[in-house]
Amino acid sequence: MKIINIAIDGPSGAGKSTLAKMLAADFGFIYVDTGAIYRSVGLYVLRKGIGSKDAAAVSAALPEIDVEMRYNDGAQLMILNGEDVTSLLRTPEVSIYASDVSAMPDVRRFLLEKQRKLAKENSVIMDGRDIGTVVLPDAEIKIFLTASPETRAKRRFIELTEKGIETTYEDVLADQFYRDKNDSSRALAPLKPAADAVYVDTTYCDLEESKRILRKIVEEKLEK
Ligand code: DC
Repeated sequence: MKIINIAIDGPSGAGKSTLAKMLAADFGFIYVDTGAIYRSVGLYVLRKGIGSKDAAAVSAALPEIDVEMRYNDGAQLMILNGEDVTSLLRTPEVSIYASDVSAMPDVRRFLLEKQRKLAKENSVIMDGRDIGTVVLPDAEIKIFLTASPETRAKRRFIELTEKGIETTYEDVLADQFYRDKNDSSRALAPLKPAADAVYVDTTYCDLEESKRILRKIVEEKLEK
């Protein structure tokens, strides 16, 4: 069977993972959450007591890091040096660490081949920041998903609160501004739409409407 790759990029809180998971289930693709891979590296660095911006120390630690993805009933689990760390990756602290370490060239190089290998061997829907531009420039379908900063922060705040993570809307918005700026302004693989991506703004769409839009994009491209 022909392998098809779908790239979904966009800023944090745009709904990428929720929508990519849904599309993966509908169309029988494997969902790959690349942010979780950067988060796992961020968690390792944080636990090791290395500063999130200490590129030399992070590079030196990379050989100690083994990140692996496993799937359990379609859910992606992140295994860091043999430990299932999936439930530890969504805290605000790990978010900042992930964003900071992801700007480091050594970290991106370290993770690039891993992501490409997954996409070469499987039909994947991969979400992240640079999937359509750098990781899978030949992906058959590319979507850039975004929404206003306030809408994204509101969604993220609800998600974190539902998971029992204590925070405030103001803190989520501030973290998000930090990450948006970091992720978009870095020199290497910054967040930006690929020239051939379909741009989808979900500020005024609820989840059902967003699902309908993305399903239609994928169906139309797959039919061609
Ligand atoms: O999607 P996320 O919020 O879980 O990603 C966490 C951080 O990882 C994000 O702030 C930027 C970084 N990231 C990246 O640089 N490239 C990717 N493909 C995915 C995530």
